[in-house]
Amino acid sequence: MTTNCPTSPEDPRFKELEKIIAENKDIPGSLIQVLHKAQNLFGYLPEEVQVKVSDGLNIPISEVYGVVTFYSLFTMTKKGKCRISVCLGTACYVKGAGDIVAAFKKELGIDIGDTTKDGLFTLDSSRCVGACGMAPVLTINEDVHGLVTKDDVPKLLEKYRGEAGGDKEAVS
Ligand code: FES
Repeated sequence: MTTNCPTSPEDPRFKELEKIIAENKDIPGSLIQVLHKAQNLFGYLPEEVQVKVSDGLNIPISEVYGVVTFYSLFTMTKKGKCRISVCLGTACYVKGAGDIVAAFKKELGIDIGDTTKDGLFTLDSSRCVGACGMAPVLTINEDVHGLVTKDDVPKLLEKYRGEAGGDKEAVS
């Protein structure tokens, strides 16, 4: 189970968030900066974090929520420990990225944008990641995997399932 879920105001990360807010409180237009740091801290921006930012910066919650939902870099959804992102740029798509996405969906039982119930995997897609020569490409956390086929999906999942939280070595 992941530990990045703020379940109570006693979560020590709220103290850290208070510090971030205090450091930025008097800087005009600091909302995005604070939200960015808050997301780095918690992994996502749940309601209780947004309320804290709203109170701390004295900005209406509607404005905070508006910014969080407007910018795609912010998320209100808890991400899994292993974040899979399949490139759906043109080069990857014509080389079978769609089949890879379908294989992940089938294996994990989730859709794009969703996280498995055990909090281990989040499935996402991305645009060109600049590695078209290795198409089709996907990333899992910081690791880049190229020339992937749909048949590689089960072994990739097995590898990351087994190593969740440990060092990972790219398989291709
Ligand atoms: S289109 Fe996928 S890396 Fe360029």
